[in-house]
Amino acid sequence: MEIVIVPDPDAGARLVADAIAELARRRPELVLGLATGSSPEPVYDRLAALHRQGELSLARASAFALDEYVGLPAGHPASYRQVLLQQVVDRLDLPPEALAVPDGGAADIPAACADYEERIAGCGGVDLQLLGIGTDGHIGFNEPGSSLGSRTRLKTLTDATRADNARFFDGQVDRVPRHVLTQGIGTISGARHLVLLAWGEGKAEAVARGVEGPVTAMVPASMLQLHPHATVVVDEAAAARLSLADYYRAAWADKPSWQGL
Ligand code: GLP
Repeated sequence: MEIVIVPDPDAGARLVADAIAELARRRPELVLGLATGSSPEPVYDRLAALHRQGELSLARASAFALDEYVGLPAGHPASYRQVLLQQVVDRLDLPPEALAVPDGGAADIPAACADYEERIAGCGGVDLQLLGIGTDGHIGFNEPGSSLGSRTRLKTLTDATRADNARFFDGQVDRVPRHVLTQGIGTISGARHLVLLAWGEGKAEAVARGVEGPVTAMVPASMLQLHPHATVVVDEAAAARLSLADYYRAAWADKPSWQGL
């Protein structure tokens, strides 16, 4: 696991977007795992800028969302499909049909989840998976207690996560669905490279527990410790509670350039 401490989210976004652009040049058919929430937004802004400058094409790529709310009407602005259409598809050349999102409106939820797993496997798995982190340490919508081997399935959100996400529902916590579909922790761990992004002091405790605490279902982000290629990109505020922060800075400063991200 590599911890990269950057001065601000823009610096982190440049680093991650440049790595994605490099991957896309080497492998135009790359499979991206997309997160939602505010953490990946600067990365999507930077990817859009690289595309405008002619330095990035996702025309032959495909993308899988981590999760989706259950029961929102199609086209609801807070649905993750809608968010990713706006933030990624509309601003890059990723074909809309190349974006897959768990079907939160499916009549048969277990079948929709099994189908999602098959679709990911059918693409050969995810090359690079972007992740945010919830204040309770969740990744995707895998709340504390989620099995570390879980696959795509229905989950119930905690009150804390619904309160955190109420800002996308006009501040009305009652409008935040209770149920969601999310890739499981086992599903996420199948991606070849995990890149977790966290900004601001509100994430400092979750980051420290995920990165330096014990591996436990109570902190789903701690699964990164078991992954062979996991990168955690944090700003100074989100790094504030890391006990080995000085070591991470030194290791990054001395990293051989051939290693890449
Ligand atoms: C939601 C999403 C997660 C995201 C988390 C943190 O729960 N399902 O994928 O990581 O929010 O969001 P933010 O980046 O806005 O803090």
